[in-house]
Amino acid sequence: MDMKIGVIKGDGIGPEIVGEAMKVLDKVAEVYGHSITYTQLLMGGASIDVNGVPLTEETLKAAKESDAVLMGSIGGDAKTSPWYQLEPSRRPEAGLLALRKGLNLFANLRPAVLYDELKGACPLKEEIADRGFDMMIMRELTGGLYFGKRGTEEVDGVLTARDELTYNENEIRRIAKRAFDIAMKRGKKVTSVDKANVLDSSRLWRKVVEEVAKDYPEVALEHMLVDNCAMQLVKDPAQFDVILTENMFGDILSDEASMVTGSIGMLASASLNETKFGLYEPSGGSAPDIAGKGIANPIATILSAAMMLKYSFDLDREADAVEKAVAEVLSEGYRTIDIMSEGKIQIGTKEMGDRISSHIK
Ligand code: IPM
Ligand code: MG
Repeated sequence: MDMKIGVIKGDGIGPEIVGEAMKVLDKVAEVYGHSITYTQLLMGGASIDVNGVPLTEETLKAAKESDAVLMGSIGGDAKTSPWYQLEPSRRPEAGLLALRKGLNLFANLRPAVLYDELKGACPLKEEIADRGFDMMIMRELTGGLYFGKRGTEEVDGVLTARDELTYNENEIRRIAKRAFDIAMKRGKKVTSVDKANVLDSSRLWRKVVEEVAKDYPEVALEHMLVDNCAMQLVKDPAQFDVILTENMFGDILSDEASMVTGSIGMLASASLNETKFGLYEPSGGSAPDIAGKGIANPIATILSAAMMLKYSFDLDREADAVEKAVAEVLSEGYRTIDIMSEGKIQIGTKEMGDRISSHIK
């Protein structure tokens, strides 16, 4: 197969971690007889530096022309980076939101798995970590507060800011269907997370999710309020299979879920639309504080590349090989600093990528 992959290395640790994921993809191509054409795309701070804006029309077009896009991370230190002197609509994050919207990537899949090998890095009590967990967070990605009307104005002499939270039934239905489809291939349970005791958008969310559930009689549906969900994630993460939620709640809960896996450096993600196209990126940020030091954990990006093989190219065997290689390197005791624990062997970004790619067979 010939894969046309757009690559957004991005800012901070982005170029380092993407380099390792490309190394692993190249090894997969070599071993399994595929070919890859990479197109480098600029987005975020790197694009501001060159083009003055975080995403150009040409980049969006080039992304659309690829089969899939592999991305690192974007953004910098809000206190020190000149990017944050710009208007909010011209900052790095605005590029990411425009890319998500422009490609209609409404379904964001964020798997959070506690590897046996990393139980020691899990910050939860031993009796909870011992039970393990394997959940998929399905976050709606092109609606809600992120894309509602916003503004700041003076009302009766008082500075007032407003961000609108809107969802229509079609937006809810399409993400709910995705969640149930994925649950059918996993543990057949969907926990739909909302704030229906307060928000109208959440009450509509609940109603539509219940309608969709009727087409999936094998899947157990439960509703959970978002505050309770935040608590349950640290109390009993093993109870979850698929968590279905709106944009903002999903942003917050996925960071929490990643931390209980031991490190945000382990969490992959895929953002999908109605086609086979997808944008694949680690859930973590650009970590400007450790950029360029060669110590960032590339595993989340490598696992995102595995998701790309699976969801955009239907190469399940190749995706499994990448996941297996990651598990093997961890079981040999190799760790980047973020997941380091006593008795393990600490290695840097490049060596982690080398070791994982040498396990692809
Ligand atoms: C994420 C990030 C982004 C988001 C930021 C960088 C805009 O936190 O992908 O979770 O809030 O969606
Ligand atoms: Mg986030």
